[in-house]
Amino acid sequence: MSAISHQSPVILGCDHAAFALKQKVKAYLTDRGVEVLDVGTAGETSVDYPDFGVEVAARVSSAEFERGILLCGTGLGMSMVANKFPHVRAALCNDLFSAIMSRRHNNANILVMGGRVIGEALAAEIVDAWLETPFEGGRHQSRLEKFDSYEAIKKRYDKNR
Ligand code: RB5
Repeated sequence: MSAISHQSPVILGCDHAAFALKQKVKAYLTDRGVEVLDVGTAGETSVDYPDFGVEVAARVSSAEFERGILLCGTGLGMSMVANKFPHVRAALCNDLFSAIMSRRHNNANILVMGGRVIGEALAAEIVDAWLETPFEGGRHQSRLEKFDSYEAIKKRYDKNR
């Protein structure tokens, strides 16, 4: 078993549709020395994914955690919720290439996967690559900085709603 060099604790959340995969991901991380805070859900009883997505996203947004992982059936709902929070760059990665690129180019700080889309073995590879791949910075950093400058434009158009 190879260790994961990523040091900071990871906050982990899921809904019922991805509970089984969340348990596997949690075990994968703890077995490799990564500290995990699991905010639930704790079983397969139906829950609402935003309740868990919000907790992970808020705590990454506030910089309490550097990285988070969210899982739901497809990964779609969790990504939508998480990306509402400032400073959160949640990436839905149900394949390895996207996981690597979400770190290299997008400096993703939340990894989202779909428990009804991928299996345990692929999820483990994705988690591993996502935690170990560094951000390339440079031109990608200045692109990320534009996210914040869009706030003023967004406010101008929001008045139409
Ligand atoms: C739950 O049935 C499902 O809708 C949820 O896990 C997720 O896939 C939503 O995007």
